[in-house]
Amino acid sequence: MDVSERIAALEEVPTESTLLFRVTNDEGETWEAILVASDGADGSSSDCDDGPHDGCGDDRSAERTGGTRLSCWLNYCQHLTHIKIDKGSGAPMRDGELVCANHGAYFDSGSGECTHGPCEGAYLTALEITVDGGDVYLTDDEYSFVGEGPIEDDGDLTSTSNVKI
Ligand code: FES
Repeated sequence: MDVSERIAALEEVPTESTLLFRVTNDEGETWEAILVASDGADGSSSDCDDGPHDGCGDDRSAERTGGTRLSCWLNYCQHLTHIKIDKGSGAPMRDGELVCANHGAYFDSGSGECTHGPCEGAYLTALEITVDGGDVYLTDDEYSFVGEGPIEDDGDLTSTSNVKI
């Protein structure tokens, strides 16, 4: 495993929030991504059995360890794609779903599907991760790990919540 792609220790990944980090692509663009752990103890193999799509059709996002399912997504809502779900202090979550505070879209934290809200049926963009030796690594062909935390030059001008959650 490439140590430069280590995102965090497995135990650091929150279950009721998100771990925010930065990635870069081949064009040198920097983006934000989030890691989230969800309870996968029901034994289901995946929520992504309905064919390929941008979110999890290839099941890149999910990595199971014990009863926990880890998922990794680009940190951008599918309603307005410049809006960040995690504003820098962890994304809000309700009943295992990520919540975009701007207009109240709910995303299944395991499949990335928007289950409720203005972009219902759309999927978050998945990044491939791998758990090895108690650590989580980014193993995505398109993105490389940069570091923990947000992009400092925040272009999200609408970061104020419009909904009560
Ligand atoms: S920007 Fe996320 S729900 Fe509207």
